[in-house]
Amino acid sequence: MKRIRIEGQHKLQGTIRISGAKNSAVALVPASLLSDEIVKIDNIPNISDIDALNEILAYLGAKVSREGSVMSIDSSSIVNKEIPEDISKKLRASYYFMSSLLGKYKHVEMYFPGGCAIGARPIDQTLKGYRALGATVQEEGNKYTIDAKELIGAEVYLDMPSVGATINTILVAVKAKGETVIENAAKEPEIVNVATFLNNMGAKITGAGTSTIRITGVDYLGSCFMEVIPDRIEAGTYVLAGALMGENLRVENIIPEHIDSLLSKLREMGVPIQEERDAVVVSAAMKLNKVNVKTQGYPGFATDLQQPLTVLLTQCMGESILEETIYENRFQNVPYLNDMGANIQIDGKKIHIYGPTTLVGKEVQATDLRAGACLVLAGLKAEGTTVIDNVEHLLRGYENLIEKLTNVGAKIELEEI
Ligand code: EPU
Repeated sequence: MKRIRIEGQHKLQGTIRISGAKNSAVALVPASLLSDEIVKIDNIPNISDIDALNEILAYLGAKVSREGSVMSIDSSSIVNKEIPEDISKKLRASYYFMSSLLGKYKHVEMYFPGGCAIGARPIDQTLKGYRALGATVQEEGNKYTIDAKELIGAEVYLDMPSVGATINTILVAVKAKGETVIENAAKEPEIVNVATFLNNMGAKITGAGTSTIRITGVDYLGSCFMEVIPDRIEAGTYVLAGALMGENLRVENIIPEHIDSLLSKLREMGVPIQEERDAVVVSAAMKLNKVNVKTQGYPGFATDLQQPLTVLLTQCMGESILEETIYENRFQNVPYLNDMGANIQIDGKKIHIYGPTTLVGKEVQATDLRAGACLVLAGLKAEGTTVIDNVEHLLRGYENLIEKLTNVGAKIELEEI
C-alpha cells in the first residue's frame, strides 16, 4: 500500500512539463495489434495503466521494447487466446484489445473490463457496434465470446457519444469489408490521435474529431510511427494547482485548445492566465468569483477535471454549482473535502459549493483516480498536513506526480506502508 503526505500552503513556482495522454496511450497500445508490422509510439507515459496493457501484450506474445520515450510493438507473432479476467479487469482500456483482436481475427474471448468505480459504465454501445458489423456476442457472466464469419461495414448510431464505443467501433471497422459510418461519435482529441495512428498504418478513416466518422475497411495495416498527444487532464490538474497556489506556474508541452473549457471558466473566476503556443502560465488570485459548471463531452467541460476543479470552487466567493452529467458516482471526493473544511452539499447530479472556506489537512482516501488528484490539490492548499491513502489509483494516471510537484516547490512525499 502506498500513501501520499503533503505539507500544504507552499507556493508553486517554475515549470511542469506535461506527459503523453493516458487516455490516448491506452488506446494506441491495443490498436497497435491491428498492424502486421512493427509500430513505434513516442511519448508513452510511464504509468501503471500502461504496465497493465504491456502485461496483456506480453501474454498474447507480442514483442515490446522501449528506447527512451519510444515504445516499439511487434505483434506479427501473437496468439489470439482468451485474455484472463484478472488482467482484463485491471483497467477499462483492456477492452480495446477485445476490438483489435475481433477486428484482426474475427474471434475474441475476453472479460468485462475494469476501471474506476465512478458509475455503472456498461459496454452496450461497443457491443452494438460489433453486432452492427455482423458479429455474434455470447455473454456468460462476465465473459464475452465474440465471433464473426465476416465483418461488414455498417451504420452505427451511438445512443450517447461514448469515447470507448467510438474507439472500439473504429478498431473493429478498420479491416471490415466496405464502409462503416459512426453517427453521434465522441469528439475527444484522443479519438483523433487513434484515427491518425491507424491512418498512418494504412487505414482509411475520415471525420475523427466530429460527430460523424467514416471508415473504409482495408486488408492490410503496416508499420508506422506516432506520438501520443499531451495529456489534457494532467495539464488541467496542474493548471488548477497553479490557480490554487501558483506564482507564475508554467504548465508546458500542452495543446491549450484542448483545455479551453477549463481556461475560460478560470478566467470567469478571475484567475490570471497567460496563454502561449504550447504552455499556460497561471497564478493564484486574491479573490475568486463563483461559477457554475456542467460536465459534457469534448469540447465541453471534461468530467475528468470536475473533481480537481471542486477544490478551487471551495475558494470562490458565494455559491458555485457543479453538475456532473456523464457519471452517476463521481462525488466520492466530496465527503473528504468537507472533512477538510469545505462546505459542499450533494443534490443528485449537482453539488453546491459555498465558499470561500479554509481547508485543513486530514487523513483522506483516494477512492478513484481523479478523486485522488482532487485530494492532492486540496492538500497543496490546506493548512497543515494531508495524508492520502489508497494512492495506487492516482499513480495509474499521473506520471512522476511527486517529482513534478516537488520541482515547483510542493512538499509532497510518497510513503510505502
Ligand atoms: N456509456 C454507456 N454505454 C456504453 C458506453 C458508455 O452507457 O456502451 C455511458 C457511460 O456509463 C458513461 C458515459 O456513457 O456514463 C460516457 O462513457 P464513455 O464511454 O465516454 O467513457 P469511457 O470511454 O469509459 C473514457 C475515459 C474516462 C473519461 C470518459 C469521458 C478512458 C480509458 N477513459 O471513458 O477517463 O472519463 O472517457 O471522457 O479513455 C479517467 O481518466 O479518469 C477516466 C475515467
